[in-house]
Amino acid sequence: MKEKILSRLEDCPWGNTLYWFDSIDSTNTRAKAMAADGAPHGTVLIAGSQTGGRGRLGRSFQSPEGMGVYLSVILRPQCPPADLMHLTCAAAVAMCDAVEQAAGFRPGIKWTNDIVYRNKKLGGILTELSLDAGNVAYAIVGIGINCLQEETDFPPELQSMAGSVSMAAGKVILPHILAADMILAIKKTSDALLSEKAAIMASYRKDCITLGKDVSVVRAEEIRHATALDIDDDGALTVRYHDGSLQTVTSGEVSIRGMYGYI
Ligand code: BTN
Repeated sequence: MKEKILSRLEDCPWGNTLYWFDSIDSTNTRAKAMAADGAPHGTVLIAGSQTGGRGRLGRSFQSPEGMGVYLSVILRPQCPPADLMHLTCAAAVAMCDAVEQAAGFRPGIKWTNDIVYRNKKLGGILTELSLDAGNVAYAIVGIGINCLQEETDFPPELQSMAGSVSMAAGKVILPHILAADMILAIKKTSDALLSEKAAIMASYRKDCITLGKDVSVVRAEEIRHATALDIDDDGALTVRYHDGSLQTVTSGEVSIRGMYGYI
């Protein structure tokens, strides 16, 4: 698998620091340990399966063997954390580019970090930062995309809301092809991350299916209905509640659900 991916990375320097694991607890967890030990910018960890795949808000990410692409990239941008508020959004746009390149259709983004297509989640992004004296020491961008699954491969309780790139494309998309396109897209985005923030966020707004929708804003035990109005260049979402009041919320504070289900 590693050789197949490398053969598609051509001149991408990240191919020189790519680590393949047949099975691992979590590529993000291992990437953090490697980054703390000094692994350089552009180190890529990719696994055939994960036994403890992690998602946002402490959720787990199902990572069955050979079915998806599970990878983490170590980035070392030289900036304060405030300049990286859009990192997860940038990675999400890169994933739309990668899926379009590999499978011929462009998925959408459910704010902030879910890659979706026709009401089904294809994958997600988990970004983790480590700081050193007020600056970013490293960022881990972890991405999991369901690739080969058919509907019955998902647990019954997930079948109505989970999908795969192959299901959405209507043909088999091989994981090594998607993996290589994901790595190339993340490399391109990381090169432009600080210099092209406004353009990246303009693409994010275009891909984001949440904008204009009626949504439920979920904060701890409280759920409020609202309309999603806009997303700023830091990825924060402005909503209008049904009493007319406006609020700008971040992904750390709230999660967003559709009024009638996941999307
Ligand atoms: C989410 O849906 O909330 C984010 C899912 C992120 C999953 C990926 S798979 C590779 C990397 N390793 C992890 O443990 N998580 C991310």
